[in-house]
Amino acid sequence: MTKKQVSDFTMMKGSQPITMLTAYTCPVARGLQQAGVPVLLVGDTVGMVEMGFDSTRQVTLEHMEYHIGAVRRGAPDTHIIGDLPYRTDRDPDTALASARRLLAAGADSVKLEGDKYAVIAHLVANGIDVVGHTGLLPQTAKGFAKVGRRAEDAQRIREEAQGIQGAGAFMLVMEHMPYDLAGEITAALRIPTIGIGAGPDCDGQVLVINDALGLGDYWPPFSKQYARVSDSIADVAKAFSREVETREFPNNIIRMTGSRG
Ligand code: KIV
Repeated sequence: MTKKQVSDFTMMKGSQPITMLTAYTCPVARGLQQAGVPVLLVGDTVGMVEMGFDSTRQVTLEHMEYHIGAVRRGAPDTHIIGDLPYRTDRDPDTALASARRLLAAGADSVKLEGDKYAVIAHLVANGIDVVGHTGLLPQTAKGFAKVGRRAEDAQRIREEAQGIQGAGAFMLVMEHMPYDLAGEITAALRIPTIGIGAGPDCDGQVLVINDALGLGDYWPPFSKQYARVSDSIADVAKAFSREVETREFPNNIIRMTGSRG
């Protein structure tokens, strides 16, 4: 598989739906690359789904560098987007220094939330490919309710999407917003939109990998579980405990391999 470039994603708009999944670790990234997923997002959701924080705001640049490095080692030929953590994009120069660290860790492009047009324009002017994010913005939202239901919120999101495209972003994530609004914005923009809880009319869809795997104890209503990995972990741990307690393990692997160490 050859790594997708920005121009590939632009060409996919309107012709081929774009699959995106988040990834945080090397073995999961390896599996996603093997499956041919064209773009991985090392999202700051890592803080909630992997690190046990109660928001994405506790995530630091150091955390992101660690996880981007792991994902890059697992998926050397896949486009990787690195999320800029909370406030590391607070002004154009801070954002540029932060983005350079994520690229040095292995990202191909960076994502940031909201209407930071001057920041996006500064990153793009310095050769950095940027993904925008509108709708629900977890770094600053008070809760996880759908946004854009009221006419004035919908209008703000429309303007934000246009502003993000105008500032030079090459892709836009749209999170937890009315489906018809997401469809309208997708039709109005040149750049591809990737939805999460934004309905069927986006140019692509993203899921948090832990949600898709069923690895966790809470899954947003718009996510889908394709497996039940949390149940498998409990089953494996119970099977191992039983075999340790009955001394079946490691005798059963010694019998299988013939090795006594
Ligand atoms: O951080 C993240 O994983 C995200 C997705 C929810 C799109 O921004």
